[in-house]
Amino acid sequence: MSALAERPANPVVGLRATHESAKLHVTGAAMYTDDLAAQTVGTLTAWPVQSTNAHARVSVDVASAYDVPGVVRVLTADDVPGVNDAGIKHDEPLFPSEAMFYGHALVWVLGETQEAARLGAEAVRVEYEPLPSYVTVRDAIAAESFQGIARTVARGDAASAMAASDRVFEGVTEFGGQEHFYLETHASFAIRDSEGQYFVQCSTQHPSETQEIVAHVLDIPSNEVTVQSLRMGGAFGGKEMQPHGFAAIAALGAKLTGRPVRLRLNRTQDITMTGKRHPFHIEWKAGFDADGMIQALEATLTADGGWSIDLSEPVLGRALCHLDNAYWIPNVHADGRIAKTNKTSQTAFRGFGGPQGVFLIEDILGRVAPQLGLAPADLRRRNFYRPGQSTPYGQLVKDAERIDAIWSELLADSDFTARRAEIDAFNAAHHDVKRALSITPVKFGISFNFAAFNQAGALVHVYKDGSVLINHGGTEMGQGLHTKMLQVAATALGLELHQVRLAPTRTDKVPNTSATAASSGADLNGGAVKNACEQIRERIAKVAGRLLGVDERDVRFEGGFVTGLGKADRLPFAEVVNAAYLQRVQLWAAGYYRTEGLHWNPDLMQGSPFKYFAYGCAATEVEVDGFTGAYRVRRVDIVHDVGDSLSPMIDIGQVEGAYVQGLGWLTLEELRWDESDGPHRGRLKTQSASTYKLPSFSEMPEEFNVRLFERATESGAVYGSKAVGEPPFMLAFSAREAIREAVGAFGPTGHSVELGSPATPEAVYWAIEAAREAASLADAPSGAPTEAVAQPTTDAAGEPAAARETVRI
Ligand code: MTE
Ligand code: MOS
Repeated sequence: MSALAERPANPVVGLRATHESAKLHVTGAAMYTDDLAAQTVGTLTAWPVQSTNAHARVSVDVASAYDVPGVVRVLTADDVPGVNDAGIKHDEPLFPSEAMFYGHALVWVLGETQEAARLGAEAVRVEYEPLPSYVTVRDAIAAESFQGIARTVARGDAASAMAASDRVFEGVTEFGGQEHFYLETHASFAIRDSEGQYFVQCSTQHPSETQEIVAHVLDIPSNEVTVQSLRMGGAFGGKEMQPHGFAAIAALGAKLTGRPVRLRLNRTQDITMTGKRHPFHIEWKAGFDADGMIQALEATLTADGGWSIDLSEPVLGRALCHLDNAYWIPNVHADGRIAKTNKTSQTAFRGFGGPQGVFLIEDILGRVAPQLGLAPADLRRRNFYRPGQSTPYGQLVKDAERIDAIWSELLADSDFTARRAEIDAFNAAHHDVKRALSITPVKFGISFNFAAFNQAGALVHVYKDGSVLINHGGTEMGQGLHTKMLQVAATALGLELHQVRLAPTRTDKVPNTSATAASSGADLNGGAVKNACEQIRERIAKVAGRLLGVDERDVRFEGGFVTGLGKADRLPFAEVVNAAYLQRVQLWAAGYYRTEGLHWNPDLMQGSPFKYFAYGCAATEVEVDGFTGAYRVRRVDIVHDVGDSLSPMIDIGQVEGAYVQGLGWLTLEELRWDESDGPHRGRLKTQSASTYKLPSFSEMPEEFNVRLFERATESGAVYGSKAVGEPPFMLAFSAREAIREAVGAFGPTGHSVELGSPATPEAVYWAIEAAREAASLADAPSGAPTEAVAQPTTDAAGEPAAARETVRI
């Protein structure tokens, strides 16, 4: 085991610590960005003027806003001293002359009060000169409206392997996006101090990039801007790239007025202005041998990127790197491209394209299993990666045997076989209600695909009284990163948890940080915190060795005391620290960590971009009502691999939360845009919780059992742990597959169920109707063909497929 992974005796990591802000969260005392703004006197409020056209050249007349009492200033493109852009790709004008989507912020009004700013914004006159717009991904594909770089992942010879396959299926898989719906909407608060220094408190996952954008917009060096991210009320990827423009607006306002400026979007503004999970349109063809082993996969994935590129390229890259999920696919050719549409600019969202890739293969397996005559669970299991196999992009699947091991444990935990038998009996006895129990695996690569992001820094101070203050570059969004960092520091210094404190994340403490994203916050920042603490520990071990009369290598730090091997003395940590201070030993350190062993060629889409894979399996039981399409999740069992957990309670919370968020995406949450040619074309019709259905208590599984995989040390990560934030999101596919199987139970044997996504009760209802119709056809005395019967089609070259037939499903 590497030194990084090794744990000392009685470590604080691994204890069931409560979230460091749990009490503040539940008492309402936790401060968020806009709370800090509200406490500051003389603060102005910013309010946007949003486009009411999906795509149009705009001319804006702000004069009448100044007639509104309390309006202080209207910010427009003319006010920008630096770059008029909110992104890093320079395709997101902060003050646009062309509205690119319905809801696009055109100018911002600063008012003494929110009311004044809002009324001022209403007084601004906008003239629109409409331009053609694309609202659906299909429209964009037809018009060849694409953006960014197209990518291909390929291995072997997919075309030949397809031709040689015993069974070939083809189909289209389409699914929607997802709104982050973090509880805290986007918020920024900027102050310019007497020295001309900008302090921006921002709800951002990426303070360093927010700092960079603010500096670009204001045309000042980064050392004049400090960005702090105290905590976020949820982020889920939605605050990785999207906060920058809002921070820049607040800072620009502070510059022009000399007053503090706050900007907090209300829910409607947030949902209509900011990016979401990418919807995808995928055309695919898959070949299987007689045993149901996948032979070949060909696919064209089109991500709906919205109006600007944002993070669409890396999201597409991760989708392409996850379309294998946990399965060995010997021959693959998958093309990926990004559509440009007149909608919000889609962005990072938990899983970052991974869920979109996994969607494809799980959808294929779920649809073809009945036609192959295999139980879906058997089809999945026989296609798992085996040790020694590698992914289509060329990375060895390390610890591949864990997939099958976790699967076996879950079959036992969930009492799978017995419950399947019960469900079969239940279904035989019920015509209008059906149940199903489905099990799916997940494999998710950990590390940023872009190698440079895989580094982190920390700053650790030990004060003379022995108390410790840590800073690190990661941000807290509810995921418990700070709790884990406190546990790492306490472990590395041999202290109790209460002896370590954490200071807010700020760019003037740790510079050039990466976004807290890709689930790697704890791996990267944990490595840096540990490194800083170990430097300090080594220095004071020398002092302690002399005090205790032992060699420095025989000094032990544990539970707040320092001891020497073979000695009875026990010195309080504070005493050793104070002695070290008097001996002029440095009591603080900057820590650094970078992930070793990564390499990636983005052009070829080949290499080993991930440090390791996180694994898990879930078994979900649902009951579906044949009259309405309504369903209930009766029971969920999960076994998930987090390595040796840094913080089990936090990790279980992450697994539960991720599963439920995935369940929301796959079954409930539906974004509807106005696709008509009417006056509101391009408007998001689901703008609040009243029309956008989120998982709530009534959708929680009636029984929810989550267990962490045991004895799971990950040798390459901090204290043997693994990242947890995103991978369990994809465990929710077991719910979608269970709904599919339950719907299938309304149809004839071999019926392939195509399920709309999200699988809302409405979508489920129509799938049941199709299944019932197939059943009635199958029962018809004439022996009329069922939908499931193979339809010969033509092959790619337009020639009739002679030897084999392709089934379009
Ligand atoms: N958990 C909570 N409570 N809130 C969040 O916003 N974001 C998720 C995940 N878990 C999120 C969360 C996402 S998208 C990521 S990438 C990780 O947390 C980021 O944090 P980590 O790297 O510390 O796991
Ligand atoms: Mo998470 S989507 O990587 O912020």
